Amino acid sequence: MDCKFGKHCCLYPGSFDPVTLGHMDVIRRAASVFDTVVVGVLHNPDKQGCFSVERRVDMLRRACADIPHVEIISYPGLLAQLTKETGIRVVVRGVRSAADLDSETTMAHINGRLDPGLETVFLPAAPGLTDVSASMVRQLAQFGADLSDYVPSQVLPDILAAFTQS
Ligand code: PNS
Repeated sequence: MDCKFGKHCCLYPGSFDPVTLGHMDVIRRAASVFDTVVVGVLHNPDKQGCFSVERRVDMLRRACADIPHVEIISYPGLLAQLTKETGIRVVVRGVRSAADLDSETTMAHINGRLDPGLETVFLPAAPGLTDVSASMVRQLAQFGADLSDYVPSQVLPDILAAFTQS
């Protein structure tokens, strides 16, 4: 099956609740290796995130506006269903630590079993970004900490507004 997004494309899946500078680094580096990067926001109806999936997609679109050949989509259910439906053959995941590598390897094996031939490529987090996570950003935002070193400037107002209102 031909890939709906072109031959040399990859999927970068995640929750992106919200997008961080760690995610942005992976997207930019994946965009330098692949012709198209499809950023897939998991839509889990059982888990109420901090931001709605629509907001996360919108924040990613604004944060990625200056990076060519990046598409933002959302997907319900299994990642392997999405790769089968679209014909995407490569998944990219960022790895920040040995613990990440462990869990990501398990996820890669499961996805490869569900969609044989699907490859997962790991990108090591850049130095300085190994401590950045969306959960840490949410925690810092709750206490009004400065987030400018952790999230793209385009979405900073969204996060401040979300946590000022709550
Ligand atoms: O940003 P995250 O939360 O680390 O992303 C995890 C994500 C969304 C990529 C992963 O949980 C996922 O794809 N879930 C969809 C369900 C699925 O396919 N599970 C099987 C692989 S373990």
